[in-house]
Amino acid sequence: MTFSRIAGTGGYLPERVMHNKEFEKLVDTSDEWIRERTGIKRRHLAADNETTSDMGLAAARKAIDAADVAVSDIDLIIVATTTPDKVFPSTACIVQRRLKLHTIPAFDIHAACSGFIYGLDVANRFIRTGGATNALVIGSETYSRIIDWSDRGTCVLFGDGAGAMVLTAAGEPGIMSTHIHADGAFEEALHVPAGISSGYDAIRTESAFIQMKGHEVFKKAVSTMGSIAKETLSANNVDKHDIAWLIPHQANLRIIKAAAKKLDLPMDRVVVTVDEHANTSSASIPLALDVAIRDGRIKRGELLLFEAFGAGFTWGSVLVRY
Ligand SMILES: CC(C)(COP(=O)(O)OP(=O)(O)OC[C@H]1O[C@@H](n2cnc3c(N)ncnc32)[C@H](O)[C@@H]1OP(=O)(O)O)[C@@H](O)C(=O)NCCC(=O)NCCS
Repeated sequence: MTFSRIAGTGGYLPERVMHNKEFEKLVDTSDEWIRERTGIKRRHLAADNETTSDMGLAAARKAIDAADVAVSDIDLIIVATTTPDKVFPSTACIVQRRLKLHTIPAFDIHAACSGFIYGLDVANRFIRTGGATNALVIGSETYSRIIDWSDRGTCVLFGDGAGAMVLTAAGEPGIMSTHIHADGAFEEALHVPAGISSGYDAIRTESAFIQMKGHEVFKKAVSTMGSIAKETLSANNVDKHDIAWLIPHQANLRIIKAAAKKLDLPMDRVVVTVDEHANTSSASIPLALDVAIRDGRIKRGELLLFEAFGAGFTWGSVLVRY
């Protein structure tokens, strides 16, 4: 039986840091409101010429180094992103070219803030069925490009960045389970209306930016994070007290605290980066994981739960023995 395990992780954050105070000049808000309602203090923003593949590549190189594999050993690339460099080819193909890899499969996954969990689900299936041995899974996002900087309900919430992971074939798990879900009935609760087939001209209008029914998303995120945890624990016959670390999607500290409470986990067993990174969508879980691995909090052998929720709605979880 082949399983997959986390061999290495990496993260990348752009140099430019934007503090809450700067929003006070753009919209009717305050540092206090943003901290209190979201937990966010600051976020990183990509430079004008910095792309999703630039950030994803930087995170990927660190993950490959940490995994102690050669670049040439990578045999699958999945990039989770909703902010690709180009309409096509995929950002995964661009990363592949820049890693000087050829012929291995490379494709993007579009599941908004749940993208990285979807990517892990797919990579795990590839490895378990013999389709890959060393999969590179990247979450990379440049949300600053799709933010409406005049909408206080959304502009304060997001940041740019990338996280990456090398998943490697192993004799035992590693990844114990993945669960992914979607419900397109909530399409308009959180979306960027402009697209390609629906009218490419809209890409230069206000439709090209994030629109969100914040309260509806908040409520659904809290209930879904609870149900996905329950589903995961019961599928694995694992008690919630066995979870060493919760690494949730980083959208809002209040959502994260509610998720931790449902698991009976004290906040010092929850990795929180939303204060420093804001919501980096599909990059948020691998970035948070990488921070806590590199600062020594997360240790080999510990049981980790990843939980994500995002536009679609999409949601999912991964239970993994690190
Ligand atoms: C956006 C969010 C922080 C707003 O917090 P909230 O406590 O739910 O606030 P509400 O949406 O009920 O709005 C309350 C008031 O705050 C205002 N407000 C919203 N953003 C604000 C800001 N940045 N500064 C000041 N006031 C703000 C609203 O306009 C509203 O004012 P009103 O009552 O005069 O209409 C919260 O709804 C949220 O985090 N939603 C989920 C976001 C998310 O997770 N998105 C990604 C999912 S992957």
